[in-house]
Order: sequence, then C-alpha cells, then structure tokens
Amino acid sequence: MKEATWSRSEILHGDCLRLLATAPAGVARLAFADPPFNIGYKYDHYDDARTYRDYVDWSRRWMESVTRVLSPDGSFYIAIGDEYAAELRVIGRELGLTLRNWIIWHYHFGQNTRDKFVRAHTHILYFVRDPKRYVFHDDVLRFPSARHTEYGDRRANPAGRLPDDVWNEFPRVCGTFKERQGWHGCQMPEALLTRIVRASSDPGDVVLDPFAGSGTTPATAVKWGRIGIGIESSGKYAVAARDRLKSAMRTAERRNRRDSDGWCERERECLRQLYRETETPVESLVANAAAMECIRHAMRARAEREFTTDEIAAQLRALQGKNDLPKIKNDRPYRARQHRKEAFAQDRKLAESWFAGLPERLRRANEHAVAHRD
Ligand SMILES: C[S@@+](CC[C@H](N)C(=O)[O-])C[C@H]1O[C@@H](n2cnc3c(N)ncnc32)[C@H](O)[C@@H]1O
Repeated sequence: MKEATWSRSEILHGDCLRLLATAPAGVARLAFADPPFNIGYKYDHYDDARTYRDYVDWSRRWMESVTRVLSPDGSFYIAIGDEYAAELRVIGRELGLTLRNWIIWHYHFGQNTRDKFVRAHTHILYFVRDPKRYVFHDDVLRFPSARHTEYGDRRANPAGRLPDDVWNEFPRVCGTFKERQGWHGCQMPEALLTRIVRASSDPGDVVLDPFAGSGTTPATAVKWGRIGIGIESSGKYAVAARDRLKSAMRTAERRNRRDSDGWCERERECLRQLYRETETPVESLVANAAAMECIRHAMRARAEREFTTDEIAAQLRALQGKNDLPKIKNDRPYRARQHRKEAFAQDRKLAESWFAGLPERLRRANEHAVAHRD
C-alpha cells in the first residue's frame, strides 16, 4: 500500500484502521478521537450497536493504530461516554500510554430523563506516549482565578491559573450557533478543540482525528496553523466535512485581518473565550485592576501580541454593545426569555384569531357601508 504523507490538511474518506496503516509512524503530534460510543446512535451508515466484545476489541485496534502514528512526544485525547470510559482507560495503559488527566466535559441541557439523573457530561481521556516528554503550553490556558475576580488580590499570579479537569466552559453546539453544521448530530464545539489543539501541539504540527464526523478537529487545527487530518468512513459526512475544512482554510486568513479598531477576529475570539472562562460581568471585570492585568497577560499568550488593559476594556464594552459576548451567569437582570418555538406558537395563535375574526369584521363593515349609503 502506498504510504500517505499527511503534508497538507485533508479529510480522508474510508475506514480509519485501513487508512492509519498507510501513514508513517510518528507523523502526528496530537490525536483527538471522538469515536461512536456504542449506544445505538443513528449514524449515516455505521452500526452503533455492536456486542460488548466486538466494540472493545475494535477500540483496542484503532487505539493501537493511532498510537503508532503519534510522535514519541505526542498526545492522544479520547472523548468517550460512561459505558466504555473504563475499558478505554485500561486499553490505554496496556498500550503503554500514560494518562495525564481524566477530564469531564460538563455541559448543560443534557437530554431530559424521567427516572434518573440527567446525563450532562462526556469523558475526555488525555494520554501521552512519554510521561517525561510531551507538549503542554500552559500559557495559552491560563485565566483569572477567584483571587483576581473576587478578591482583587494584586499578589495573585498575574499569569492566572490553569483550568480544572472539569470543563464547564464549552456549551454544546446548539441550533443557534454559527458554527453548527446541521447535518451531523455529534458535532463537538470548536472552542473545546481549540483548547486541546493549542495546549498540545505547535503550529505546523499534524493533528489527527480518526473519526472526523463533521470535521471539527481538522477545521480547528487549520484555524490555528496546524495540519488537520480527518478520517471519516461515511462518504456523505466526508464530502460535507471537506467543504467545512475548505471554508476554515479561507477563514483562517480572514481571521487575521485587522479592522478599523486595530483588532482581528482571531483576537476577539480569544477575548470572548477568556470572558466565558472568567465568568465575571463586564462592568465588574473592567473595574478590577488585578483581573484586568491577568486578562492582559492571558491575551498576550493566546493572541500573541501586546495589549493594554484600556484597549481590552474598550473591546469588551464594544462586544457587549453588539451583544457579541458569550452569555455568563447573572450577567444581566432577570427577564423571562421566550423559547423560539413558544414565541412562534404565540404568533401563530394571534394570526389564526385575526383570520378567524375576518368574516365577522367584513360583515360589520358591509353593514356599516349599507347603513351609511346616501
Ligand atoms: C461521534 S462522531 C464524531 C463527531 C466529531 N467529533 C465532530 O465534531 O463532528 C463519530 C464518527 O465516526 C465515524 N466512523 C465510524 N466508524 C469509523 C471508522 N471505522 N473509520 C472512520 N470513521 C468512522 C462515524 O461515521 C461518525 O461520523
């Protein structure tokens, strides 16, 4: 079989076991895998209801194939549900991988249940090949701690703190999100992949996703200057993910173009995510010198240029004015929000009652016209 080079970003169509076998050993600095969870989910063609043994054996095979193509200092993240998290962790150990974190991605709006607690998390197992040699850019992860935001403590580390291993700051991709593709039900948020890609790889590195789905990993990788390789067995998904990847490549250039205020979209994206992680309303944040100093450090690391705190405060206010900041808890006074469907149903009711009354109104208008005829 001809050896693949993986020298430019692409979505490969086919079975990951077969295609991984064509790649050179050690080519990828980072792999992120979000395999089917074997919970009977309806995919385009894949049968997500295998026997326990079959699924576990298959998981071992693809994890082994991914490990082979990882560089000796490579990192391997796996998103997995409750059903098989323990099995995949054990397989990782048997393959000689070291678990650095067992991350819980906690999201809101899990599917409602009647007789048990609502599931609102996914496990992300974070392995490395070598526990002494790996890439971990802590500077792009830091954000203000409560010592900055609650106590305004100027002695707090101005570089900020690292996030916990429970990730609350990445909402699931829902209907109103600009990034939502709409043709794949398991789309991961780009912000979550951004954290992983930026922490565990460098620009120019190969970032692999053996279960590309809608193409989130390769699309995020190219946005941050990496080579994004996605493998997807569904022809339909692969074609659509290619379009997404192409558009991400076009956007990557546009995101760096400066606007009249001197900022580019890539920098605003860093600030929006920091704001979400800080969980502090704009006015409290800009009034707090310790927190703003920390944001300044974090922006320098994430956006790779110098900012003043005044510039950051002005940008935060401008984004707030355009309603372009993520929603955080208690950032605005309570006002009942209407669900779109309910609002639509109300409009429809109004329209129906207006049309229902129309014959009666016409009849009365007619009577009035007759009564007032000369
Ligand atoms: C959970 S989804 C991945 C979603 C992805 N993380 C995203 O953000 O869109 C898993 C994907 O793996 C694909 N798949 C299943 N078996 C595969 C295989 N053997 N090789 C490659 N892809 C496979 C499925 O078609 C599905 O699109």
